[in-house]
Amino acid sequence: MSFAERTPAYRERVDSALGHWLPPATTHPERFHAALRYAVLGGGKRVRPLLVYAVGEWLGLPAGRLDGIAAALEIVHAYSLVHDDLPALDDDDLRRGRPTTHIAFDEATAILAGDALQSQVYFVLATDPGLGAAAAVRRQLIVDLARASGADGMAGGQALDIDATREVEATVAGVEQRYRMKTGRLLEAAVTMPCRLLEPDDATLMTVAAGYGRAIGLGFQIADDLLDVECGPDVSGKPQGSDRRNGRATLPDLIGLAGARARLDGLRRDAHEALAGAGPRADGLRWLGEQLLAGPALPRDG
Ligand code: IPE
Ligand code: IPE
Ligand code: MG
Ligand code: MG
Ligand code: MG
Repeated sequence: MSFAERTPAYRERVDSALGHWLPPATTHPERFHAALRYAVLGGGKRVRPLLVYAVGEWLGLPAGRLDGIAAALEIVHAYSLVHDDLPALDDDDLRRGRPTTHIAFDEATAILAGDALQSQVYFVLATDPGLGAAAAVRRQLIVDLARASGADGMAGGQALDIDATREVEATVAGVEQRYRMKTGRLLEAAVTMPCRLLEPDDATLMTVAAGYGRAIGLGFQIADDLLDVECGPDVSGKPQGSDRRNGRATLPDLIGLAGARARLDGLRRDAHEALAGAGPRADGLRWLGEQLLAGPALPRDG
């Protein structure tokens, strides 16, 4: 059985962990708790959890030890999407083929749901018994996720994205740094955090994981840019042309669609090369990297 065939089971695994870690929708105040669950459950490709489980296969870690890390990453990602869609940021009304959280509920509820989701991930990492990790390892996982999602990572990258609307002269290096922060760091964390469970820790494996994570992390945002240009909501589940409408300087704006595809090809090769010595147990990770950087399934003649 291939990793591709195992993805439905992994998605079910993480959905069940997510259901467990989110408070019931019947909790008072019900509307707020319903919004929390709405933002996370029912949709999404579960890319970050799949990366976690693929790394687990590579390292020979049991999936049961990875559910907490997978859930924490998906929850922090879901919170980032809720805030990304708000009128003050991208002002989008469709996400995962459904109304965005602030449309389905209201802005105040969406902001607070994002806040609560962010807190919840540290509760998961601190308390999940399934992790089977010593206190020092939990502490490291908390540091990793805080760094990847905070001012040096996702949130800082989102701040740069807002500035990018006012950028007069964007450089490729500047755009790529913004992408590495707003999107890459969380994907990289999905690849490196499971390595923290290895005992004794293994610096060589961590370097391999980080190299692969960096390549797919950046590539994933470039593929998302292409999706925004080339695919409608039927494919992406979100409004087409959001970047243009918001005046965001994207890599395709700077180097053209063909240039962006060429960069994506280069990153796909980098990801592959990073895993050159990783052996057959990394085949799931190889396959997943290919999928994530494949770009939208449209003519490649831009
Ligand atoms: C979209 O992420 C936002 C980016 C960081 C590019 P995904 O493409 O993983 O979104 P979902 O989780 O499948 O909805
Ligand atoms: C996503 O960038 C970055 C996040 C950290 C949420 P986008 O704004 O391009 O993501 P989508 O296209 O709305 O999913
Ligand atoms: Mg955005
Ligand atoms: Mg957006
Ligand atoms: Mg986008």
